[in-house]
Amino acid sequence: MLVGDPHCRPEDDTKHEQDVIKDYLSLQYAALEAAEPDLVVLMGDNAGGNTPEEVRETLLRITQPYVQTDTPFTFILGNHDLQYAGMDLKTLYRIYASLPGIIMPEDITDFGDFRLSVRDPETGDPALELLCVYSGSNAEARDYSVYDYVQPEQLRWIKATTEETTRRCGHVPTVVFQHIPVPEEYALLKESAPFVMLGGGVAGQNETRGKFFTKRKGVEGYFGEAPCSPGYNSKEFEVFKETGSVFAAFFGHDHLNDFVGMHDGIILGQCKTASFNVYGDGLRQGVRILDFRQDAPFVLDTHMLRYRDLLGKKCRSLSGSIAVLHDKTSMKLHAFGRVGIAAAVIALPPAIIRAAKQYRNKRK
Ligand SMILES: [Fe+2]
Ligand SMILES: [Fe+2]
Repeated sequence: MLVGDPHCRPEDDTKHEQDVIKDYLSLQYAALEAAEPDLVVLMGDNAGGNTPEEVRETLLRITQPYVQTDTPFTFILGNHDLQYAGMDLKTLYRIYASLPGIIMPEDITDFGDFRLSVRDPETGDPALELLCVYSGSNAEARDYSVYDYVQPEQLRWIKATTEETTRRCGHVPTVVFQHIPVPEEYALLKESAPFVMLGGGVAGQNETRGKFFTKRKGVEGYFGEAPCSPGYNSKEFEVFKETGSVFAAFFGHDHLNDFVGMHDGIILGQCKTASFNVYGDGLRQGVRILDFRQDAPFVLDTHMLRYRDLLGKKCRSLSGSIAVLHDKTSMKLHAFGRVGIAAAVIALPPAIIRAAKQYRNKRK
């Protein structure tokens, strides 16, 4: 079960903050009951705090549903986690390692990447490998990329790790979890005319600003914002292909998107936010379920479990009308809103002049 962008803040007793965490926890408990997952993955931008103790407290709060249901969990970091925590990678990883119920190997690279192996219970051989990759924060050279990209050393690690498994056991199905999506997500989209925003298209941002996009045929799920992948392509996707083992990669970071599609033989999928603490689209918030079967390697089933499907409209942090309004639309409503404002700006001055003339004529 993938949990996108929890963005949990330290304990705060304002009513809204309390409501936000209650809604997050309600969603987690309902999803755990519905899916009974073997493993939960926090997809980055997980938790903040001003001190190491505060970060740990926040993490304990958001992981409490997994501990209470005996569901193991693991994580990747997002671009905000080190910023929130104000500490280095090693210190933050030590805090994660101290959490009850966490699955985390000792063998972690200096860049924060690690591998988890799901083993065949009879032979002990790996049946599925999960690569948890840290995609950094903001790019140092911001003139060519707003967000960071996976570094050459990390790409060498992905290659070496999969090659080592392949040498021992042949190609083992491998899935990558990473916060910032690879630029190839744009291959699941097609460029469109601006007016498609009224029909479900979205405007580009950062490096794709000025362009407009819709989903390509065959891409499933919700497309609400242009992917915020790095502007610089470090060829990570090419490395996925070269391994012959990576057959799927799932990402967080874009809070609205939960589309999934196939590009060049590899499944690329988004996991939207499960939080009510950040921008989102009402009751569509949810978690993504991945189903793997040992008798069908290199295949997976996936679907979203949304707040509205699990819990209906009983939401504390979004009032009824706001929740429904958000839920209908997000970006589409913004587009309609802009058209409405433009129409009002054009129509209003002549209407005011007409009304003023009528008033003057009446007084005459
Ligand atoms: Fe985020
Ligand atoms: Fe992010």
